Amino acid sequence: MEIVKNVYWVGVKDWNRRIFDSLIPLPQGTSYNSYLIVNKKTALIDTVNPGFEEKLRENIEKILDVSEIDYLVMNHAEPDHAGAIPYILELSDAVLLTTEKGAEVAKSYYGVPKDRTKVVGDGEVISLGSKTLKFIHAPWLHWPETMFTYLVEDRILFPCDFLGCHTAYGFYDDEVPEIIYYAQRYFGEIMMPFRNMGKKAMKKLKELEIDIIAPSHGPIYRNPERILSAYEKWTVGETRRKVIVVYASMWGATEKMVNLIADILLSEGVEVAVHNLAFADIGEIAKDLVDSRGIVLGTPTVLGGMHPIALFAVSLVKALRPPLRYGVAVSSFGWSGGAMKQISEMLSPMKIEILGAVEVKGYPSEEDLEKLRRIAKELAEKVKG
Ligand SMILES: Cc1cc2nc3c(=O)[nH]c(=O)nc-3n(C[C@H](O)[C@H](O)[C@H](O)COP(=O)(O)O)c2cc1C
Ligand SMILES: [Fe+2]
Ligand SMILES: [Fe+2]
Repeated sequence: MEIVKNVYWVGVKDWNRRIFDSLIPLPQGTSYNSYLIVNKKTALIDTVNPGFEEKLRENIEKILDVSEIDYLVMNHAEPDHAGAIPYILELSDAVLLTTEKGAEVAKSYYGVPKDRTKVVGDGEVISLGSKTLKFIHAPWLHWPETMFTYLVEDRILFPCDFLGCHTAYGFYDDEVPEIIYYAQRYFGEIMMPFRNMGKKAMKKLKELEIDIIAPSHGPIYRNPERILSAYEKWTVGETRRKVIVVYASMWGATEKMVNLIADILLSEGVEVAVHNLAFADIGEIAKDLVDSRGIVLGTPTVLGGMHPIALFAVSLVKALRPPLRYGVAVSSFGWSGGAMKQISEMLSPMKIEILGAVEVKGYPSEEDLEKLRRIAKELAEKVKG
């Protein structure tokens, strides 16, 4: 696929992939986008996931022989993009272009020797002839070594993972109607913990004229404005009048409480996303954490503490560092409890204002329900305020 003259997509579509990082469901698979720039010198930008090396070679060889590659750009060292680096270096005399940190990782992960690597500085340019590559350091998106590559004459940005999304569908953004949904899932899963670094990177991108964004997962944006304006909001942690409800419940007591809160929030005009952890899609939770202002966590006591699946979910919420401002915790127990103590301990280091923590024995009484109504109304006021 030729994107603009002499710039080709030579990646692969992994339609069958259903899980990433042994954690994140991929309902529509993903793609590993690799790009070939043909000029006096030839550059390959990022490679593909292990197992797809032959397919990458096949795609490149529709255009030229792999041995003709002069530069192999490694924007990011994670194996889904860097896994085929040893394969390409074996078949060519290409020099690996990467950051200083990238060079270290290339050595430790892929055994790339120093004499096959050239470290590029922030803002450094390399001429391919009539086309120029400019390297933009953008660390911690989402590993320490990450950078972007910008093709100056064609105004194409290659940001690797940043701005991408997991779907094998479509080739261009306008061919995938739900692209922002997939991009939001992806942002929540991968980039949200590094929002501040994302904000810095967005600032650097403002200095560039960008016609096309060619990320390493998902469709190519020939209309870059939509994804850039979405990232503008997500990286600064702009939230909506929205509450995410995440809970586990074995016999319905906790569920009764969270449902009451959800109903009241809805009647107060607050957007609500409810996730029952027994069958929730983690990607969906990550997506809703990106722009939720409040969270309701519910768990019964199981064996003296939180339900294990709620324990997992709360650790994940903490790790993803969402821009939540307000929280409510509810819990039910049978005899001596313990879940609420644990959930409070876990939430205390987070910058969330806890508006209420309701723990009931068995099913909630009318008095408990009244208390929950009051808390739900307060939560609604806060997220609307
Ligand atoms: C497997 C299992 C383990 C439990 N462990 C405890 C416990 O250690 N301490 C306690 O107070 N209640 C315990 N309970 C009782 C539940 O916390 C109680 O039934 C609660 O009301 C369930 O809420 P739910 O309907 O939201 O699931 C346990 C229940 C089950 C099924
Ligand atoms: Fe990555
Ligand atoms: Fe990736």
